[in-house]
Amino acid sequence: MIIDDGELRCINCGSRFEPDPYLFNCKKCNGLLEYNKDLHINWSEIASRTTRVWKYRELLPRIENPISLDEGGTPMIRSNIFKNAFIKFEGANPTGSFKDRGMTVAISVAKESGAKSVIVASTGNTASSAAAYAARAGLNCYIFLPMNSVAKGKLAQVALHGAKIFEIEGNFDDALKIVMELTKEKKLYPLNSFNPWRLEGQKTISFEIFDQLGIPDWVIVPVGNAGNISAIWKGFKELKQLGLTDKLPKMIGVQAEGSAPIANAWLSNQSSPKFIDSPITVATAIRIGKPVNWPKAWNTVKESKGTFLTVSDEEILEAQKLLARIDGIGSEPAGAASMAGLRKLIDQGLIKNDEKVVLIVTGHALKDPESAMQDFNITKIRKDEKIIL
Ligand code: F0G
Repeated sequence: MIIDDGELRCINCGSRFEPDPYLFNCKKCNGLLEYNKDLHINWSEIASRTTRVWKYRELLPRIENPISLDEGGTPMIRSNIFKNAFIKFEGANPTGSFKDRGMTVAISVAKESGAKSVIVASTGNTASSAAAYAARAGLNCYIFLPMNSVAKGKLAQVALHGAKIFEIEGNFDDALKIVMELTKEKKLYPLNSFNPWRLEGQKTISFEIFDQLGIPDWVIVPVGNAGNISAIWKGFKELKQLGLTDKLPKMIGVQAEGSAPIANAWLSNQSSPKFIDSPITVATAIRIGKPVNWPKAWNTVKESKGTFLTVSDEEILEAQKLLARIDGIGSEPAGAASMAGLRKLIDQGLIKNDEKVVLIVTGHALKDPESAMQDFNITKIRKDEKIIL
């Protein structure tokens, strides 16, 4: 068992529970759980440590020997497109997405609690990350993917790391339902973002933003299953609780138009999302119709006085191209949704040019080579043919 000094708290009814690694929903009301512990850290003392997830170990679940690939410590790059926009390039993580930050914690918890096998439903990136970290931990890894929807680079990673792959008839939400069924017996450890331990690792994005830039006015995050935006917000709130800042950023969640249950509800003043049975978008990573963590994301945007918005596939692909061709940053479509969102919000006048914005670019271009190769020409040159540049 994990020797941990934290607790799990229901975000719905506030009930508190021992830090049981297999508890994912409130025993009283079935609400989502959040991991919490007493926060103590001396920020100037840790300044000499290399920036990566475990730099902030005092604020994370207590793990004796983390299974780590030195994740985190990703670049913060000033954009050429908007001078006050900074790109937190999560594609620079070991398996090419922010998922590695959570995976180092979740896989370590799985290992320390004695699990032999892990299981996850995924649109691709969680699968790549789980497969790599499970390999490193010596755990069996079972991956459940939506049929014909996962980008090639992600599939290649899962295959290379030797996970057992199931492609199920249906979409991500159907795959997640299967995973939830299969984990009821507590023989397989689930790595999806209903796992509050995993989200703890992801909150280190905020700690790094604070270290690299201070607290921005806005943070823009692509939203799928809605875990990451809430993890990032939790990180910022903890910096405030620690007395390190008074200021908090406003959080913006971007969803793709055809997969936007949360943003649609927010924008039409509903009190909860109407789930979508057949989500669709070119940004396959965020092609999700029933986001499990929507209540956490909803609270995030409400508390921070931010907003949700939708962007079209055309806007996503245009932003992906701009990031690549003006900023030199290669993003998969879902990652570029944050830039698409910023362009829209500047046009709408919600974000002013002089405000500091951090865009979370969540995944690397090589994850989805087909989307990266939509707009290019190759000039074939025969032997002895004159080359015209
Ligand atoms: N961006 C990328 C590149 C992702 O892979 C995901 C989620 C998100 C954004 C959204 O994050 O779900 O926390 O709101 N991908 C998951 C997966 C669903 O299975 O890889 P979220």
